[in-house]
Amino acid sequence: MIKIAMVGCGDISRIYLKNLTWTFKEVELYGVCDFRPERAEKAVNYVKGEIENGAEVPVPKIYKDMYEAFADPEVQVILNLTRPYEHYDVTKNALLSGKNVYSEKPLGITIEEGDELAALAEEKGLHLGGAPDTFMGAGIQTCRRLIDDGYIGEVIGANVSMICRGHETWHPDPEFYYKKGGGPMMDMGPYYVTALVNLLGEAKALTGMTKKSFDKRLITSKPHNGEIIDVDVDTHLAGNILFANGAIASIFTTFDVYYTQQAHFEVYGTKGTLAVPDPNTFGGPVLLYRPEDFVAGPTVDPALRKIEFDPYTKFRQIPLMYDYRENSRGLGLADMCKSIETGRAWRANFRQQHHVLEILTGFSKASESGKFLELKTRYTRPEIMNNNPLHGVLDE
Ligand SMILES: NC(=O)c1ccc[n+]([C@@H]2O[C@H](COP(=O)([O-])OP(=O)(O)OC[C@H]3O[C@@H](n4cnc5c(N)ncnc54)[C@H](O)[C@@H]3O)[C@@H](O)[C@H]2O)c1
Repeated sequence: MIKIAMVGCGDISRIYLKNLTWTFKEVELYGVCDFRPERAEKAVNYVKGEIENGAEVPVPKIYKDMYEAFADPEVQVILNLTRPYEHYDVTKNALLSGKNVYSEKPLGITIEEGDELAALAEEKGLHLGGAPDTFMGAGIQTCRRLIDDGYIGEVIGANVSMICRGHETWHPDPEFYYKKGGGPMMDMGPYYVTALVNLLGEAKALTGMTKKSFDKRLITSKPHNGEIIDVDVDTHLAGNILFANGAIASIFTTFDVYYTQQAHFEVYGTKGTLAVPDPNTFGGPVLLYRPEDFVAGPTVDPALRKIEFDPYTKFRQIPLMYDYRENSRGLGLADMCKSIETGRAWRANFRQQHHVLEILTGFSKASESGKFLELKTRYTRPEIMNNNPLHGVLDE
């Protein structure tokens, strides 16, 4: 059993608290802390309530600050659930204190922060990893298996987009989404880019064009309803990525437009097309289109065909072949904890986060310079998941 301490008990902590209490059997939430003590208390009260409901976990302690958690010899892993611009400081100080760290996405908010944290983890021989871990879920793993087994042939490219009107309608403290380290590429891009590199492998270079459509955003969620946020970052970003295997992906993320379907993710191969599920989720559906599945009709110009409302009507749904289809945030943490115990590799690792961070931050750089950006980080895909007998217990 690996003991962890949670730093930051805000919005996303709820799903970690639930999964650490009920799902992941070999990770123990040993303590929590937050700048706002009432949030740490709320986290502990949640666990107490679940113990009354039958959860077999101890009551976590409350640390007065993160440094008290870093100094606790019982704690092996710091779970960093702070805001993106705070990740670097928390992760760096935890590593310097000799603790392993699992951080929410992204690794840092600049490539320099990522470079430094990756170098520090290497130098100290500590485990560093982090979100997203949705790529380890049943949906993306099934897609990876299909691609690796040749179901769409050689990969030609991909087209992915995340389209929404921003988070100020629902998040209780949405300001950080519009400050340095925020914006749709840094916030939502990690899910899409992490899934892309898991499916297509190492990226070599990229281009980008980015802009800010609105200087101010109105908060409509509670409790900051009516307040205005000054926007400091680009909120509409488009780019192209060239992969080492020759595939080319287009990516588009925006907080600026009205649309009904947020996620769109397709991978194209020489033999077929795969519609990948929303990479911000763990489950399906996984849809595959192989043209030979259909009896050929008269050959017509595709542009003249009747436009169908659902572009996926000719795709068939593939059963999910892996575990973890519900919201399993913390899966990457449990996998990293198993790695600490056994010495095997861990999947949501800092080398992957570092490569993803270089891509995420690269689009604005390419946009500013007007040039192609060659990527310096190298990347090897982590192992595909194993199906284990017990849900919540990771493989040795
Ligand atoms: N909210 C979501 O739906 C969501 C989803 C996926 C990932 N995330 C990621 O989770 C992270 C946190 O997001 P959130 O929505 O929970 O933010 P939040 O603002 O709701 O919570 C962050 C908390 O961290 C605390 N904190 C910051 N620095 C601290 C420190 N040094 N010591 C103690 N406490 C500290 C803050 O007081 C705050 O309570 C971000 O990286 C975000 O990208 C959020």
